[in-house]
Amino acid sequence: MTPPIPSDAGPTGKLRLGVNIDHVATIRNARGGDHPDPVRAAEIVAAVGGDGITAHLREDRRHIRDDDLARIQTATDLPLNLEMAATDEMLEIALRHKPHAACIVPEKREERTTEGGLDAAGQHNRLVPIVSRLLDAGIRVSLFIAPEVRQIEAAMRLKVPVVEFHTGEYAHATGEDCAAELKRIADMAALAARNGIEPHAGHGLTYENVQPIAAIPQLAELNIGHYLVGEALFVGLEAAVRHMRELMDAAR
Ligand code: PXP
Repeated sequence: MTPPIPSDAGPTGKLRLGVNIDHVATIRNARGGDHPDPVRAAEIVAAVGGDGITAHLREDRRHIRDDDLARIQTATDLPLNLEMAATDEMLEIALRHKPHAACIVPEKREERTTEGGLDAAGQHNRLVPIVSRLLDAGIRVSLFIAPEVRQIEAAMRLKVPVVEFHTGEYAHATGEDCAAELKRIADMAALAARNGIEPHAGHGLTYENVQPIAAIPQLAELNIGHYLVGEALFVGLEAAVRHMRELMDAAR
């Protein structure tokens, strides 16, 4: 029998939408000033019924900056999901800010975005102390991994409560490859849930491709950023988040 999923999703099992506001900060940073402020984006997400704010503090601070974290935490009651590399610097920042959740992501300085999943299996020894210190601080730890059995097994060994599947390959694939990738994510979501790990998903999700992912019953949360911020240029962030929410709800 499948055990109940330990979940942030609540008793209804509603699929949560975490909005990644990094690229509001990317636009701000292009001119080095204060506008547009990612905090204002977080407030809009809260007002429109988003379930969480996701932000990636990168080593090079190319989007969210250190002071944004505290400002986001003060401005809204929404849970903050801090995406972070497995480094001592980021661990120290996470422990200082105590976000609701921390999602450990791989990070390469030269990449344009997080290109693949974390090799949780290969980096077990590096991850053990970081994961345990985050968990000891009461932070819900997630690993951003490819939908692969060996990565889920590594997550089980690390005793993390959450994994987030990288949906980039699904988002970029077409035809049969896309269907195969979708099946892989669905199978791995079921495997994670059977083993007591709450599965999330994100990366590259859009109005066009979100629904098959949202229909996977074990998934508890989607984290979506770049597309929503881009769409917000045309329709506003409020309308963009609302429409994504409607599509997700309709897929369940
Ligand atoms: N989830 C994680 C862990 C991420 O690192 C990112 C950003 O790369 C996202 C979700 C959101 O991806 P996107 O901006 O493509 O929607």
